[in-house]
Order: sequence, then structure tokens, then C-alpha cells
Amino acid sequence: MKRFFLTTAIDYVNSRPHLGTAYEKVCADVIARYKRLRGFDVRFLMGNDEHSQNVFKKAAEQGLDPLAYCDQMEQEFRRTWRRLDVSFDDFIRTTEPRHRAGVTDITNRIHAAGDIYEGVYEGWYCVSCEEFKQEKDLVNGNCPLHPTLKPEWIKEKNYFFRLSKYQQPLLDHFAAHPEFLQPDARRNEILRLIEGGLVDISVSRAGQSWGIPLPFDPGSVVYVWFDALINYASAVGLGGDQAEFERWWPADLHVVGKDITRFHAVIWPAMLMSAKLPLPRHVFGHGFMTMNGQRMSKTLGTIIDPIVAADRLGHDPLRLYLVKEVSFGGDGDFSWERYDERYNVDLANNLGNLVSRVTSMAGRYRQGRLTSTAAGSDRLARLADTVCADYARTMDAFALHEGAAAAYRLIDATNEYIASTAPWTLAKDPASADRLTQVLFDAAEAIRLAAVLLEPIMPTSSREILRRVGASPDALLFERDGRWRTDGERVLLQEGSLWPRVGADHRAANRVGADPRVGPTKELTTVSDNPLPPDGASPGAHPAPAAAAPSTAPSTSAPGTAPSTPAPSTSAPGGAPSTPALAAERISIDDFMKVELRVAKVLTAERVPKSNRLLKLSVDVGTEQRTLVAGIAEAYEPEALVGKTVVIVFNLKPAKLMGVESNGMVLAASPDGGKPTVVSFETPPPPGTRVR
Ligand code: MSP
Repeated sequence: MKRFFLTTAIDYVNSRPHLGTAYEKVCADVIARYKRLRGFDVRFLMGNDEHSQNVFKKAAEQGLDPLAYCDQMEQEFRRTWRRLDVSFDDFIRTTEPRHRAGVTDITNRIHAAGDIYEGVYEGWYCVSCEEFKQEKDLVNGNCPLHPTLKPEWIKEKNYFFRLSKYQQPLLDHFAAHPEFLQPDARRNEILRLIEGGLVDISVSRAGQSWGIPLPFDPGSVVYVWFDALINYASAVGLGGDQAEFERWWPADLHVVGKDITRFHAVIWPAMLMSAKLPLPRHVFGHGFMTMNGQRMSKTLGTIIDPIVAADRLGHDPLRLYLVKEVSFGGDGDFSWERYDERYNVDLANNLGNLVSRVTSMAGRYRQGRLTSTAAGSDRLARLADTVCADYARTMDAFALHEGAAAAYRLIDATNEYIASTAPWTLAKDPASADRLTQVLFDAAEAIRLAAVLLEPIMPTSSREILRRVGASPDALLFERDGRWRTDGERVLLQEGSLWPRVGADHRAANRVGADPRVGPTKELTTVSDNPLPPDGASPGAHPAPAAAAPSTAPSTSAPGTAPSTPAPSTSAPGGAPSTPALAAERISIDDFMKVELRVAKVLTAERVPKSNRLLKLSVDVGTEQRTLVAGIAEAYEPEALVGKTVVIVFNLKPAKLMGVESNGMVLAASPDGGKPTVVSFETPPPPGTRVR
């Protein structure tokens, strides 16, 4: 089996994880899961960088022994990564004995190669960066990354690593392996830096107790960066289990931020060259997450706790946002508004709705059993082929956002397919029975493929979707040769086509909402009938009741606005007097304006159990999502309403109908004895628009 060893940067533990550090872990996790999907034996390493002076200081501030402080922080980090469903196989801490063994081993090798010499360092040091700074690096005398912190001037005995010696070997390596450092922008930047000349670097600190003693001068400790980089090799056995080391080294990929790419693409490979060890195959320097365009910083109040973000909508929606909204390699921005918006569009509307509609129709019309009856949709099948190829190509190139976009192309096309084939209309015509089965089969198959492609990004939701379309999550594999493999029942790749052969079937596609295993967790709202509104967007404007059926306008006026005398009667066209009753009930414009009518878009629709008349709708009213109940089930199939733009009474008090709370009323005209027709538009205005 092919192996894939990937790593993230190991985090400083002087503060808790934030969305920026989490971004890196989620992206690396998507790559790890993608590789597993492709049949690789994956080893995904993460960890904590503990020998920093800041950590030492932080522990002292809290009156803790540094190791005890690091133990506590490890729990914090692990809790965060668990919450985000990050599937690391190994977690290393630089205070572990296995790491010390690796550091000792590699430092001795470099020393033996004659690449470490003793000297004196006199110059600036930024404790926050844990970096020796040259005068030219400073801005107004301060570190550009930590402008409020004056760097320290230090003069101490240091051991130096002959980095300068590796300038040409590094340039040669970059030339021979253009894929070594990605993306291109990062590669060009680092190449310029190497071409500009490399100076030898300090690899030890004097007079400090917190760190790994230098093997050949235990009075000094190894400089924290020199120490930290070695974690990647010590985690897989360097200086300990040689067989294990040979099995996994060199690493296939280091995923690190752009601020520390230099350490990974210049210093680390030079250290390995000196130690005569193979170099990692790829380093990927990702961009930075900002919040509302600002750098994530505690002082600016722009730090986002990834747990809070995951709790708001679920870990899968957060992961999807981070991967789909940011081009991997570039910088990306996070805002709560955009996060909510993307959730509604990508998850509630596009994916959640599609799964809900298709599985509920499969249940209602075909008892959850769909057998392929004909050749199926050529267009969808062809698109699926292209999408899967694009997905594999872009994911292999670490263009994660493009992989996500490819999967979404299939979802969009399936939504269009459902809209254009209108299965609810086919269901009314017995002559279209086969066609209906095939349409639902095709849609379910497209959903299954999309769920497979999205699994690395949204593991929980994808598995739930697969279950709902009757596919086993174990069907989630590409063949090792890069082709899709059979899941035991269906051949997924035949003669260049992914589409299952005639006679293949989907089972259990009727489970939606009826399965006790479907819990109320937010992950599953992505595939539920009625996605939860985002926490922050819960009704700020008062919910209003929906009526089971459209009701008439209020017959009494509110105090203070009721006309004391009947409004003057007007003449109907043709001069006939209007009826006295009508004239007497006329209301003022103020009365009318009290009724807040708004445009709403139907997101989901389903029957209210045990009722022939009621439909439960979730609608987008621009500022929020609402659930309402409407008495229009006899006139409308639920699926036919999804996507429709209607008018609702926005400010009615909530009311419970057959146990479902309704928060608004859909306007509809009900001719005597006839079925209601909902009020709609020729050109739908955006949800939330006031109607008057
Ligand atoms: N301890 C060093 C790494 C040593 S690796 C041998 C370190 N730690 S860190 O905690 O400061 O950063 C950990 C990772 O998070 C780094 O790759 C860093 O680039 C990344 N990020 C920190 N802030 C970030 C954003 N705002 N956005 C994206 N990634 C960010 O550096």
C-alpha cells in the first residue's frame, strides 16, 4: 500500500488555538482524509511546540511548573481538534523523550558533519517570534509582526549552524524539484531569499533551563526552532525506532503557514542535507485567515475561537467554509455574516434541500427502493465523470477549494435536474412511472458521488448523506490505480463512466426523518428537512403565527388608529355605490401598515404528520430563516414549493398547529370551494423585501 506522511506546524502553547491555527489543521485534515479515500496508508502528525520562552513565562505567571502548564494546554488543543473532527494519527509534544532522542540524534549528525561551530551572538531577538532579528528586519526599531514589543538586545555564547554552506545545494534542490515548495508565489519568494545569500544561524541559547540540552554542551539548550523542526522526524522514530523511521521518512508533505515557510523550506532542508537524511517531498505554505479583513490578534479583538464557530453551525459547516471560501495558498477572510450566509446557501439550500427532497420523494413514491431502469441521465452521468476527474486532479495538486467547487458543480446540476424533471409532476402520471424511478435513481446516484467527494471536507454530514441514499460509507473509495472502485454491489466505473449499470439499485432511501439514529446535532442539519437557523440569526423580529389556511384581514382596528366614523364611501367603477358593509370596514393606511408583509423564499417543505391540509415550510425571509405552517397541502406537493418565492405576514404572533410552531402566514387566495393558490411573483424580489 502506498504511504503518505503529512504534518502540520506544531503550535506554541502559550495561548489557545484560534481560527487561524485551526485553519491549517482543518486543511491538512482534508488532505489526510482525501489520501485515505484514495487508498493510501496515511500517517497524519500534529503536535505542540513547548520549549518556547513564552511558554515558560506563561507557566510562571500562572504559578505552574512549565510541564504541568503544557499538560493542561495539550488537553485544550486536543479538545479543539476533536471538536473540529481533525483525524490526526499521532500528536507529538517537544517535551516527550522520543523527541529529545530525535533532537540529540540529528544535532550530533550535524555536529559530526562539521556544520556546527561556536561563536557569540550579539543582536536583536524577538521573543514572540522566537527569532534572531537583523537590524534590517525591524521597523522603527520594532519587530514588524509584534510592533508593541521591543526586541531584546542579547549577547551570548551560541553555537551556529553553517546555513550559508547550503545556499547552492538548496538552489539545486529547488531547480531539480519544482514541486518541493508550493504554491508558486511562496516558491518564488523563498528562491529570491536563498539567492540573496544565507547567513549562518544560532542553534542554541545560553543560560536557559527550559529546552533540550545541547548534546555536546549541556550548559546550553537547543534553540527552539532548531528543536521544533526536528519533531517531524522524531515522531516517526529518528534516534529510536530505525525501522519505523525508514518506513515513514521522508515526509510527503509539511503544511505550514506563510510566516514560517522559510524555516521549512530553507533551514529544515539544510539541516537534513547536513545530517545526510532525505528531504520532505513537499512543503505547502498556506495563507493567513483574517477576521473582517484584520489580522487575528488578541489586542485587536479579532481572535475567533474555533469551538465557538463550530458550535454555532456545526463543525462540518465550519470546515466547508474554511476550505471552500479560501483558495488554499492565498489569504482568506472570516466574518460571521459570511459564515451564516454560506451555510444557508451551500448547506441548507443546495445540499440539505436536495438530499431531503430526493430521499423523501424516494420514500413517498418508491418506498425507498430505486432500481435503475434505463440508461439514465446522460448529462448528469457525463458531468459526474468530469467532476470526479477534476476533483482528483485538483485535490492531488492541493487546490482544496477547487476540489470543493467540483463537488458543488455536481450538486448544482442535480438541483437543476430535479427542477427540470419535476418528479412530483411525473408522480401524477402512471405512464411516467419508469421515468420517475430513473430520475430519482439518477439524483440519488449524483448525491452519493457528491457525498463521497465531500467526505474529506465534511466527514460527518457526508456519511449521513450516504446512509440516507442507501450507500455504505465504506463505498467511499477510489481504486488504488486512481479509478473508482466497486462497492461490492455496484460497479462505479465502467468503460470510463461512473454511472451504475441498469439494474443497480439504491436502498433505504426513505429514511429521512424517520430514523432514530438521526439525532438533532447541528452536523446533521446539513441534510435535515429543516436546517436550524444560525444562532445569531434567531428571530430578532418577532415571530408570527402562520395560519393553517390564509385568514382574512383583522376585522377590528387597534386602539388609537380606528376611524371613529366610517370612511366615506367611494364609487365603484361605473358609478355604482360600493356596499355599505365594505365601506364600513375600510381601514386606514396606518392600520394596513401594521401588517408587515414580506417576500420569503421557501427552503424546505414537508407534510405535517397526520394532517391532510398542513405543510411545514422553512422560509428565508432575508434576515433569518423561519418555520411556518400553511394549509395548502391539498393544492401543493411539498417539493413543488421549494424554491418558490411567496409573501408572508411577518409580524403575526406565533401559533402552534398540530404541534408545530408557526412563525408567519403564507398569503394565498382561496376561491370558494377551490384550492388555495399562493401569492407569488413574475420576477421574484429578494427575500425580506417588504410588500405594500
Ligand atoms: N511553533 C511554531 C511552528 C513550529 S513548526 C516546526 C509556530 N507556532 S504558532 O502557534 O505560532 O503557529 C502554528 C501555525 O499556525 C503556523 O503554521 C502558523 O503559520 C499558523 N497560523 C497562525 N496564525 C494564522 C492565521 N491567522 N491564519 C492561518 N494560519 C495561521 O509558528
